[in-house]
Amino acid sequence: MCGIVGYVGAKQAVPVLLQGLYKLEYRGYDSAGVALLEQGALRVIKTRGRIKNLEELTRQQGPFSATCGIGHTRWATHGEPSDINAHPHVSGNGRVALVHNGIIENYLELREMLKKAGFTIQTQTDSEVVAHLFQMHYRGDVVQALRETVKHLRGSYALGVITADAPDQLVCTRRDNPLIIGVGEGENMIASDIPAILALTKRYIVLSDNQIARITAGGVEVTDELGTPVEPRVETVTWDVAAAEKGGYEHFMMKEIFEQPKAVRDTIAPRLRDGLPALEEEGLSDELFRNVRNIHITACGSALHAGLVGKQVIERLARVPVMAQVASEFRYCDPIIGPEDLCIVISQSGETADTLAALREAKRKGAKVIAIVNVVSSSAAREADGVLYTWAGPEIAVATTKAYSAQLAALYLIAVRAGMARGTLSRQQALDICAHIAGLPRQIEETLACRAQMQHLASLYANRHSVFFIGRGTDHTACQEASLKLKEISYVHSEAYAAGELKHGTISLIEPGTLVVALACEPALVEKTVSNIKAVKARGASVILVTNDDALREDPEICDHLVRVPRCPAVLSPSLSIVPMQLLAYYVSVMRGCDVDKPRNLAKSVTVE
Ligand code: G6P
Repeated sequence: MCGIVGYVGAKQAVPVLLQGLYKLEYRGYDSAGVALLEQGALRVIKTRGRIKNLEELTRQQGPFSATCGIGHTRWATHGEPSDINAHPHVSGNGRVALVHNGIIENYLELREMLKKAGFTIQTQTDSEVVAHLFQMHYRGDVVQALRETVKHLRGSYALGVITADAPDQLVCTRRDNPLIIGVGEGENMIASDIPAILALTKRYIVLSDNQIARITAGGVEVTDELGTPVEPRVETVTWDVAAAEKGGYEHFMMKEIFEQPKAVRDTIAPRLRDGLPALEEEGLSDELFRNVRNIHITACGSALHAGLVGKQVIERLARVPVMAQVASEFRYCDPIIGPEDLCIVISQSGETADTLAALREAKRKGAKVIAIVNVVSSSAAREADGVLYTWAGPEIAVATTKAYSAQLAALYLIAVRAGMARGTLSRQQALDICAHIAGLPRQIEETLACRAQMQHLASLYANRHSVFFIGRGTDHTACQEASLKLKEISYVHSEAYAAGELKHGTISLIEPGTLVVALACEPALVEKTVSNIKAVKARGASVILVTNDDALREDPEICDHLVRVPRCPAVLSPSLSIVPMQLLAYYVSVMRGCDVDKPRNLAKSVTVE
């Protein structure tokens, strides 16, 4: 969701900015633009649509010799996607250009104030006002001007600014939106995320909320909101450029599906000591689990679906009540949470606005907060009391696969440790289940062999308008993720239903030819699910059955197609049953000609409420 880049150094800025923007495409956008300091004056090139349109425009209007500039991909919130609403925005005197990620909540008020001060508002965006404010406050010091500017702003922002009055420098700040500074040799960058800087450098600084940085080719000066200098901590990216490339796959999503065994292995292996989970260093002590009253899990999208599996697994293994709730609802429902409770927030990016708000609400009420996060040093990671990183590496496709699988793995470890601490699992039981957890990467590898079968099934059903996913217990929670995957990337309407709930209304939607995908990997519930399948078969549905039950055969009374997954304990089965579902969604998306990695209207990292 909106991507920011900026460059200052010796190279020509345009190719560096475009390359950075391409790396942020995954975040989702509908327009793009750059602003350059070209021979003492600002040049802004921006357009609706894809970055390749912008690249073409820079070719037509260039060549440019600028070595300092900012760039942006916009995901429209205020005002339609259009050339004029695209960033960068320029101040009234044409000397300040600005890119913004986030939402300025009081922009209408600020517009009125600026109009009275004689400014003409050109766009429908909330961002433009910030450029005018910067102009108003500029008295020869860019840092001071930005510090004064942000005092007027309510809402969330990451901001990058250049001005023709102070060439060869960038100034930037953030509040509740990600922004990093790439530290190179004689050149520096700003960006919303690490992939955008990797071609230049692996060293970066994570700017903290309210800090302001002035960046030149030779250095980075960071100050806090009061103007006190701050010594920034320079971190180093541990993965390389190749990890964020397609590596021979047609789409990032397919590459990431196949990276799941590694993501799960890397998440589990460092945390198993003598075959048992060791989580104390990450903030999860046995004492905490022993004394906890309730566990609250909160997250958005697929991360919430991982949390719903986590709820079932923790409740079954540790016998502690777990509430799992959508983060956008959590903070508004005055949750009953306090110092006796543990809150687990789950997020791939660690920057999802709703998840961060939920995290803060839980902390405000005194609960201990643990974040399961993939992006190192992200806001959730820094704000939580403890972090369990999912070591999935960079995930680029908007639809998550490997991060979701790694989140499940982290939750299994929590469930086992909690069960041991609370005495609901014996040491031997814990060792047994951990052996199965450690075996998951190999079993996921085996499951990936269904790729060709899922491609074939996708070819049979890609034109369906509506698909139902049904299952019970952990199969039902896996269905929720399977359904989201399909609708996200193929735009096919789909719903996930607890199989037993179908008969209470939804079965009226089943007609000859409706596709029903049934998951039946919980041995104790297979027979029940089979009865539900028979009910939809009797009404003419086509059924794909995903199961680990060797006794089930492709029987026209039960299913049209049987997809077999390896056997594992019921609580772990979503890790395997989700794999064919990801592949099905992928191939349906490809066959329907959709943009698999960058589905319409969606953003990888949703940094606004
Ligand atoms: C967006 C993405 C989803 C993702 C959700 C949560 O909606 O499109 O795929 O699951 O955000 O993101 P997070 O980074 O917090 O896991």
